[in-house]
This record gives sequence, structure tokens and C-alpha cells, in this order.
Amino acid sequence: MSLEKFFKKNKEFFQLAYGVILIFLIPLFLIYNTLFLIENYNKSINVSLQKHSLSTGKNIMAYLNDGNENKIQEKLDILEKNNNEIIEITYSKKEGDTFVAIASTQKEKIGEESGNYFYHLSFNQKEGEGIATDSKSLNTQGEEKVESERYWLVGMPYVVEENKSGVLSLKISSKIVDDLTTDSRNKSIVLLIVEIVVVVLFLLLAVRFWDYVLLYKKAKEVEEMKDEFISMASHELRTPVTGIKGYSSMILDGSFGEVSEKVINASSMIKNASERLGSLVEDLLNVSRIEQGRMEFKKEPINTKLVIKEVVDEISIQAEEKNLKLSFNPHDENLPSLELDKDKLKQILVNIIGNSIKYTEKGSVVVSTYQKDKNFLAISIKDTGIGMNEEERKRLFQKFYRIKNKETEKINGTGLGLWITKQIVELMEGKIYVDSIKGMGTEISLVFPLKNNL
Ligand SMILES: Nc1ncnc2c1ncn2[C@@H]1O[C@H](COP(=O)(O)OP(=O)(O)O)[C@@H](O)[C@H]1O
Ligand SMILES: [Mg+2]
Repeated sequence: MSLEKFFKKNKEFFQLAYGVILIFLIPLFLIYNTLFLIENYNKSINVSLQKHSLSTGKNIMAYLNDGNENKIQEKLDILEKNNNEIIEITYSKKEGDTFVAIASTQKEKIGEESGNYFYHLSFNQKEGEGIATDSKSLNTQGEEKVESERYWLVGMPYVVEENKSGVLSLKISSKIVDDLTTDSRNKSIVLLIVEIVVVVLFLLLAVRFWDYVLLYKKAKEVEEMKDEFISMASHELRTPVTGIKGYSSMILDGSFGEVSEKVINASSMIKNASERLGSLVEDLLNVSRIEQGRMEFKKEPINTKLVIKEVVDEISIQAEEKNLKLSFNPHDENLPSLELDKDKLKQILVNIIGNSIKYTEKGSVVVSTYQKDKNFLAISIKDTGIGMNEEERKRLFQKFYRIKNKETEKINGTGLGLWITKQIVELMEGKIYVDSIKGMGTEISLVFPLKNNL
């Protein structure tokens, strides 16, 4: 199997898979995008916070470092009062391997000893330089209490008379910035969740929509195939049916010499069956012509009375066979001329009068005309047949609709005749009406506009 065939065969599966992948992939991209932005934003905020802390540290150092260790505590007290960013400033003197706090904004720290890595690292910086790190990334075991708020730890060497004497350490709060960052991060996450919900909903809708599109496409394909099939099959059937009809007629009229009664009976059965088949084929052809808009109409003034009379005469044999009285009563000796396709008018009259004869057991079929006003001519076909009820009357013009009851049980038909008739009447700008009482009879009226009225 080629790859293309494989894809075509599993089209629906791939379409579904595609939808599912999209539903996962798009939210995943959204999540990644938001997290990536937050991460980068935090990184750059941290870089600038670090710089800011270090420069604050340097400024404070410049203020404190006048070589007089004794005045440090005094100055620290002033600094603490005036700067709410500062959590703690401690000056620790180096004594051997440890550092002892001798001045601090946090009085209880004075006298404390510490010898951790941060102090040593700070002490080893050049004069005027320092290090800064945030409390969260600081790895000092037990040294600091666990504080939820983040602060920046700055450390720099303190120099007395060109000799490093100890370390100045500062804790600078980044609360304002951190609160802002947390707030915007939370908002981004809420926004992300809303985005994902909306996107997933839309995608789900879209995937369902594909289903409808697929279904619609399939339905259209099937419809087209049906039309094509009807058109092709009826065309192809026409020739053999004509052949069967022709040869059975020839047997019956003696063209092949004398034949036995049995052959005559069989031949007339063949002829009847082929005629029924022929009219089914004609009906199907008409349906496909109408549905594909291929039915052509000539428009010419006709002798209305003559055309109706021709049809009535042609069909009178059928009425005679059933002992029905078929008559034509024009309301005027000179019926107004209609401007339409003569053959199509004949076709619909044959259909309607044919039905009347078909669905009438005894009585009559009367074809008459009348003129409602100057602009319309009506042709009425009235029978004393089986009639129909309200429900059946409403469905009469549906394609393939046939009334099913005891009376119609043995009558053959396709249910296409009246559908075709209605389409043709309407294509010729006419209207068709039914009036019927069950068990009493039916009247079908055709109303056509008169173009060249007096
Ligand atoms: N004059 C009539 N009287 C009673 N029933 C009728 C009459 N004309 C049509 N019908 C009903 O309407 C149905 C549809 O008619 P039609 O479309 O011509 O199909 P068909 O004649 O092939 O059955 C018929 O099957 C029949 O039941
Ligand atoms: Mg019919």
C-alpha cells in the first residue's frame, strides 16, 4: 500500500489525532511561553537588584569608613532610622579565623562570632569592592533563621589605615520589587489558565466542526453519486428496455409467424413488464434531469384545447379497459392559448389523468377547464376514485411517496409521477392544487398564467 493510500484510508484517524495533538500542543506552547517569560523577567530583575544592593553597600561604606571604628555604631543608628530598605548592617572585626560583631543595627548581634564562607569571601575582596547575593541562593547552614522574605546580602572589607580590619555586612530588603514581581507572576498565571481554557474550548469546537464538515462532504459525495448513478443507470436501461418492448410486440403482432397461445401469453407478460420498466426508467431520467437542472423547455403558444383533447384521446383506451367514463368539457369553444412547452404539458396531463384512471374503480374521470379571472386558465381533472385523507393529501407531492392501503395494494407505481409533475408545472410558472375526499374522489387543478391576455 502506498503512503498516500494509507493516509487516505485512515483519514478520519489522522484528522482525530491531529485534533488531539493540537489540543495538547497549543496549551503546552502557551505554558512554555509564559514560564519562559517569567523566568527571564526574574533573571533580569535579579541582576538589577544585585547591582542596586552592591551600590547601596558601597554608598554606605563610603559614609561609614572614615577610619574611626568607634563612631560606626552611632552612624549605624542614624542609617537605620532613615532607610527602611535596610534590614541589618553589621560590622564584624576579624579576630584570627573568625569575625566578631562589634557594631550592628541589630543590637543583640553585637559580640556574636561567625566564621562562615561569606565573611571570608567578603574580606578577601579588594578595597571598595564587595559581593552581593540574595538570601534564597545563600547556602548558610543554620546561620540564618528561615525567613520567608527575600533580602540581599552584601559584604565588603572594612579598611582601617590601609589594612583590612573586618567585614561590613548588609541585609537589604527587596520586598517592594519582589511583591511586584510576585503579583505580576500571579496575574500572568491566571491569564495563562484563562487562555488555555479558551483555546482548548475553541479547539474542541473546531475539532467537532471538522466532523460536521466531513459529514457534509460525505453527504454531498453520496448525493452526487446517487444522481450520477440514477442518470447513468436510466440511460443504460433505456436501450435494452426498448428492445424487449419491441420484440415482444413483434411476437404478438405475428411478425415471426404464428405462435402458440402459451407464447402469446408469455409475450404479453413480457410486454407489460417491459412497459412498466420503461416508465420507471423514464421517471428516473426525469428526476435526474430535474435535479441536475438539465430539463429543457420550449416556449411556444399552443392550442390548449387541441393539446388536452389529444391527451384525452390517447389515454381513453386505458379508461375503456376499466369501464370508466372519460370526458373532456372545455368551458369555452375557444380556449385561450397558453405559452409553454407542449410536450411537457402533455406529459403532466398523462400523469394526472393516468393517476385518476389508475386510482378509480368505477365512475368517471372528467377533464374540464375554467377561467378564474382574465389572467389564469385552470385545467381540472376530477375522478370518482378512492380519494385520500388530509394526511395523505399533504404528502402527495413528495418524491417516492405512495399511499399504502388495501385499495392501492395491487396497483403498481413508483411514487415519482406527481413529484415530477409538480416540478414541471412549477418550472412552467404554473401551480398545482389537490382536493380530495377519502372514498369519494379527487380533483387535481393546474393553473397557468395567460401571458397575452385580451
Ligand atoms: N387520483 C388519485 N386518486 C387517489 N390517489 C391518488 C391519485 N393520484 C395519486 N394518488 C396517490 O398518490 C400517490 C403518488 O402518485 P404518483 O406520484 O403518481 O405515484 P404512482 O402513481 O407511481 O404511485 C399514488 O401512489 C396514489 O396513492
Ligand atoms: Mg402516477
